[in-house]
Amino acid sequence: MGNVLWHITMSLDGFIAGRDDAMDWIFRYPGPNPDVDNVLANLGAILAGRRSYEVGRKPGQSPAASRPYGGAWEGPVFVLTHKIPDEPDPSVQFLTGDIRSAVATAQEAAGDRTVVLFGATVARNCLEAGLVDEVLVHVAPVLLGAGVRLFEAELAAPIELQAAGVLRVGQLTNLRFRVRRPTPPPAG
Ligand SMILES: NC(=O)c1ccc[n+]([C@@H]2O[C@H](COP(=O)([O-])OP(=O)(O)OC[C@H]3O[C@@H](n4cnc5c(N)ncnc54)[C@H](OP(=O)(O)O)[C@@H]3O)[C@@H](O)[C@H]2O)c1
Repeated sequence: MGNVLWHITMSLDGFIAGRDDAMDWIFRYPGPNPDVDNVLANLGAILAGRRSYEVGRKPGQSPAASRPYGGAWEGPVFVLTHKIPDEPDPSVQFLTGDIRSAVATAQEAAGDRTVVLFGATVARNCLEAGLVDEVLVHVAPVLLGAGVRLFEAELAAPIELQAAGVLRVGQLTNLRFRVRRPTPPPAG
């Protein structure tokens, strides 16, 4: 079974999208980026939230923004929603189950390759359920002031991460983390 990776670009003030889901800022920092190349080389499936999917389909959205990784990768894309849209879209597969079954479906499609999570809510649900192995954040040198936050949750206990790497690529700072799994209680 492959890893589950949350891959995201964040403004310095902690937003993954600006006001009204603005994403234009993200395209100011084009590649190449070795950490992105590494993700693409191992990517087996994407699991996105419905809002990320809808923002990519907004009228006027550039083709680069409407396809995962600007079209640099082809493969299974799953979109988690409570209600499957009436309009079919052959480029994705909609899922309505709970978060565990959604991740299991994506992992089955990915085989031993990585499942990448898109969006904040789906990733938060996965983190809370202990389903995420790694986080890769590209910190962009911009202050958005408002928008969709990287992570907002009332947690019973902090989710601990372990720093796994830092790389400065042009104006972006890539931060890699492994998610610490809670230690299971001793048997017996
Ligand atoms: N900076 C970046 O790298 C990056 C990357 C991707 C996306 N984004 C941005 O992130 C924003 C979207 O993130 P978001 O956190 O608002 O939304 P999201 O995680 O993309 O999608 C949330 C939606 O997913 C569905 N969903 C989530 N958990 C579910 C569950 N357990 N069961 C069933 N359905 C579930 C629900 O859809 P329904 O309401 O249909 O049930 C929910 O409203 C957009 O602005 C997008 O542009 C940024």
